[in-house]
Amino acid sequence: ATTEGLNFDLGEELSLVRDEAKKFADDVLLPLATKHDREAAISDDVYRQIGELGFWGLTIPEEYGGAGMNNQALAVVLEELNRACAATGVAVSVHNSLLCAPLMKFGTEAQKQYWLPKLSSGEAIGAYSLSEAGSGSDAAALSATATKEGDEWVLSGTKLWVTSGDRAGLILIYVRTDQDAPKAKGISAFLVPGDAPGLKVGKHEKKTGIRGSATVELILDNLRLKDTDILGEVNRGFPIAMDTLAGGRIGIASQAVGIGQACLDASIKYSMEREQFGKPIGHFQAIQHKIADMSTRLEASRLLVQKAAWMRDRGMDCNRQASEAKLFASQTSNYCADEALQIHGGAGYTDHFHVERLFRDARITEIYEGATDIQRLVIARALLR
Ligand code: CAA
Repeated sequence: ATTEGLNFDLGEELSLVRDEAKKFADDVLLPLATKHDREAAISDDVYRQIGELGFWGLTIPEEYGGAGMNNQALAVVLEELNRACAATGVAVSVHNSLLCAPLMKFGTEAQKQYWLPKLSSGEAIGAYSLSEAGSGSDAAALSATATKEGDEWVLSGTKLWVTSGDRAGLILIYVRTDQDAPKAKGISAFLVPGDAPGLKVGKHEKKTGIRGSATVELILDNLRLKDTDILGEVNRGFPIAMDTLAGGRIGIASQAVGIGQACLDASIKYSMEREQFGKPIGHFQAIQHKIADMSTRLEASRLLVQKAAWMRDRGMDCNRQASEAKLFASQTSNYCADEALQIHGGAGYTDHFHVERLFRDARITEIYEGATDIQRLVIARALLR
């Protein structure tokens, strides 16, 4: 309960970090976004600059070398980065929300002291590996295993769709540690160093959008780890995976808002420049209505994102709110991308404008970290239980 009422003021600290993210997005990321897309890689210098700005450690406490900021701040920063380059944006989202967050919440002091300073600086980039060929939406059906040999766990199997998996310093990998337990009850989460012997990077996916972001297969081949590499308790990894994804979904919703905002910005600019029938197309009501609807849906998405982040920062159950934010923001992002491309006409369908990249980048936000219908399932379960 609060007596302060609603407050839409970001406050001084958050405004400052938003301005820093905005400047970096406009000055550095935006000019590189097309290159990242064409070359299917993010430049090393971008990783370094994100470290200098403190965005790798944005949500890590200061005692571990981070900036000590919260999920609301992360959402604001992610919107700005994704407005310019969604391939870079997803790497920052995954690092903070899918790796640093569960490590901070469920890690032992020794695990935190070893890993968090490296993750804060960007010396180690974080990744999260739950999905496999046979387990996407049905995440608990995963089949990679870890079996105990003496005091070692031996991991084997093949994981898929791992964002940043080719260059990660630390990957949270979920495997089955009890073959006989019901699906979700026999899974454990392992903290796997990127250079662990037995961890091999397999195929790189060639994707429709966010091409700069690497999405790889990981092969676990006689990968040997210790009890101390397990995050949380043995066989209790699945609830960690789910709780972590609630936070991750707020990150992807922020990404969706950023891509949608870029679509709106491009549409406003183009509709004031492009003339047809003797006047700028922005003077026609058909275009004005598209712009008005894009703006309204984006503002609603932003509020859903901030509310879910606010709840998560207070340790409240925000499963439903995180899924509602992701559901609505990702659909809005695709709506904005579709309308932006329509406003740009034939030129928008070519590489003359970056709306064609935004159109491709927006599409993933309805798929990863829980597809649109999985968000509906999570929301409905929370309401109907
Ligand atoms: N917090 C804590 N625990 C949770 C939880 C949460 N938010 N949600 C569920 N759990 C717990 C449940 O309480 C239950 O615990 P017990 O075993 O103790 O009872 C356990 O987890 C199993 O829960 P469910 O019965 O709800 O599990 P389910 O098999 O029915 O699956 C699901 C539910 C929502 C469909 C889930 O499988 C899901 O989210 N699927 C989508 C997967 C997904 O989002 N994958 C994205 C991977 S990451 C990615 O995209 C790549 C990238 O790098 C960006």
